[in-house]
Amino acid sequence: MEVIIQPTREAAALLTAKVIADEVRKNPSAVLGLATGATVEPVYANLIEMHHKEGLDFSLCKSFNLDEYVGLSGDHPGSYRYFMNSHLFDHINIDKRNTRVPNGMASDLAAECLTYEEAIWHAGGIDLQLVGIGMDGHIGFNEPMSSLQSRTRVKQLNPVTIRQNAGYFGGADKMPRRAITMGVGTILDSQRCVLLATGSAKAEILAEAIEGPFCARVTASALQWHRRAVVIVDEACAANLKNREYYDWSFAHEPEWAPFRG
Ligand code: GLP
Repeated sequence: MEVIIQPTREAAALLTAKVIADEVRKNPSAVLGLATGATVEPVYANLIEMHHKEGLDFSLCKSFNLDEYVGLSGDHPGSYRYFMNSHLFDHINIDKRNTRVPNGMASDLAAECLTYEEAIWHAGGIDLQLVGIGMDGHIGFNEPMSSLQSRTRVKQLNPVTIRQNAGYFGGADKMPRRAITMGVGTILDSQRCVLLATGSAKAEILAEAIEGPFCARVTASALQWHRRAVVIVDEACAANLKNREYYDWSFAHEPEWAPFRG
């Protein structure tokens, strides 16, 4: 795992977008794993700008989103399908038929989860997976004590998560209580994983996830097990990290990162 600390939230989001853009340029038919949430909104805004100004081409890409609320259709403004269309897909040249978000309205949710896993497999697996981190340390909606080998399935949301995301629904009482989420194991299968976390509110859980023990209580800690994970944070979110000197040294000297240094 590599850790990159950027001075601001904006710089962290821009670097994340550059990593995704680099993947798409090197592999035009890349399979992207995508995330939702306020943290990744500026990443998508940067990708849209790169599409318009630099011709970043998504026409051959496929995408799979991490998760979706159970009971919400894609035209519900709180759904992750709606989020992805409005924050990214409607503004780039990806073929929407190649974008998958779990179907939270499926009558047979278990079958939907299985089909989702199979679709990822048929696409050849995920080349680059973008993730955020919840206030309870989740990735996707893998709430505390999720199996670190889990696959796509339905999870009960943590009250912490319900409180965190209630604003999108006009109150906790209007929030769905369950979601379909890729499993931790599904995320670990990706060839590359980028975790973006910004803001002081997540400094404590972020430090637990990346420098604490590898444990199901904080499912983001599973990224310590990932073959090629990079964690991109801003200064505020890096506040509790202990190995800061090494992270900065490594980013400054690692040849792979040379094109990405400011
Ligand atoms: C939701 C999503 C997560 C995301 C998290 C963070 O819970 N299921 O995938 O990481 O939100 O959201 P935000 O970026 O708004 O803090």
